[in-house]
Amino acid sequence: MRRAGLIVGETLTALRQMVAPGVTTQDLDSEAERRIRAAGATPTFKGYHGYPASICASVNDEVVHGIPSGRKLQDGDLIKIDCGATLDGYVGDAAISVLVGRVSPEVQALVKATQESLFRAMEKMRVGNRLFDVSYAVQEYVEERGYSVVREYCGHGVGRRMHEEPQVPNYGRPGTGPVLKEGWVLAIEPMVNLGRHQVKVDSDGWTVRTRDGSFSSHWEHTIAVTENGPVVLTAREDGTIDL
Ligand code: MF3
Ligand code: CO
Repeated sequence: MRRAGLIVGETLTALRQMVAPGVTTQDLDSEAERRIRAAGATPTFKGYHGYPASICASVNDEVVHGIPSGRKLQDGDLIKIDCGATLDGYVGDAAISVLVGRVSPEVQALVKATQESLFRAMEKMRVGNRLFDVSYAVQEYVEERGYSVVREYCGHGVGRRMHEEPQVPNYGRPGTGPVLKEGWVLAIEPMVNLGRHQVKVDSDGWTVRTRDGSFSSHWEHTIAVTENGPVVLTAREDGTIDL
């Protein structure tokens, strides 16, 4: 799983470096697919329940599952890039939020808080903790700052398939839920809105966006529970994670 995750981590870093005004989300998708296949892996998302691309590219009020298109990124946009790779039968799944040019301070703060909530959740991924300790870590951190947590979409177990048990909501009651065991691997993925939590799905059947039109941030990593604490399987070669 580390080898699958490494491809995802390195691909996302390359895509971050491509992001600029004028670049299309389809440009990002093509480069992702090229890199994943060059590494000997396959893009997990392509064909998943009929999904047509290798990444999800969700801009501004789009929360997740935006389909790459000819849309050109513009100064002030916030793009969330979600990427999965399957290697030797195992899946890595991660997502980053990237600012395009000059973005408002409010949106910068949202992105930072969402990323920090993922780190807080990861810290709870220790043998003997409960699943909703992880969930609550996201909820507590972002709600304290006035943001809202998307309810309809969750993190998940990941392994030979992208979506395995258990579901990992980004909200929940601490001290409850299944006990975390060594060897569990979870994709933790806070989806956090600047405004209200409600979302809707576009007529394309995929794109999820905020009902109130507010910006949303999304971060995700594939993380293992080990006896030495959490290990990020979608980290880069040098062990760092995207910032
Ligand atoms: N990373 C995502 C998830 O965890 C997105 C996959 S949706 C797909 O659920 F359809 F594009 F594959
Ligand atoms: Co996921």
